[in-house]
Amino acid sequence: MSQFYHFPSDFFWTTKIKNHQGIKNNFLHQIENDIKTLEKKPDWCCDVISSFCYKKNFLYDNFLVNSIVWEPIDMMLSSFPNNYWQIKVPINSSISNIWYNYYNGTTSSHQEQHHHRPHSFSGIYFLKLNGKNTTTFYNYHSDTTFERRKILDNVKEGDVVIFPSSLMHQVNFFSGEKISISFNVSSTYSIEKKYKDNY
Ligand SMILES: [Fe+2]
Repeated sequence: MSQFYHFPSDFFWTTKIKNHQGIKNNFLHQIENDIKTLEKKPDWCCDVISSFCYKKNFLYDNFLVNSIVWEPIDMMLSSFPNNYWQIKVPINSSISNIWYNYYNGTTSSHQEQHHHRPHSFSGIYFLKLNGKNTTTFYNYHSDTTFERRKILDNVKEGDVVIFPSSLMHQVNFFSGEKISISFNVSSTYSIEKKYKDNY
């Protein structure tokens, strides 16, 4: 008898944000103005303008975070098959940080390969996207039989992608114009009673 078991560890999940136009009306202008105030370049090997080094309070707006963080994450969690969360079920989550990235189209912008540990979930919302997206995810847990690299090139403006914070990703050279809002969420977990005996 054979058994094939696939650990449900690496994934990304995308959806369209239903309030996208309202968010764009409210926040695009604010971000475009705020970009002019940035002085510090993030400490990454990248060529992207980012607010990562600063806490931008206007990004913690309830309407924004409900629309691009909590509603999509709830939707994602409820869309997994029943047996997907074998052990860990998030019972409480909070935003650790939220920031914007600006790819201005005048240079070949990119970000080196990285992860967002030690957070739980991370996401990227595409507030403005002109050009084919080049975010690429990597799966180092599989051998050559399986795909190890996936370019997120089919997302459109107004979409959000959510992934485990441990998942490696990078942004390949991108010559279009893009403003994205990224976020990290930290969760606490409950070990379901029926699995406790296994520990
Ligand atoms: Fe990232």
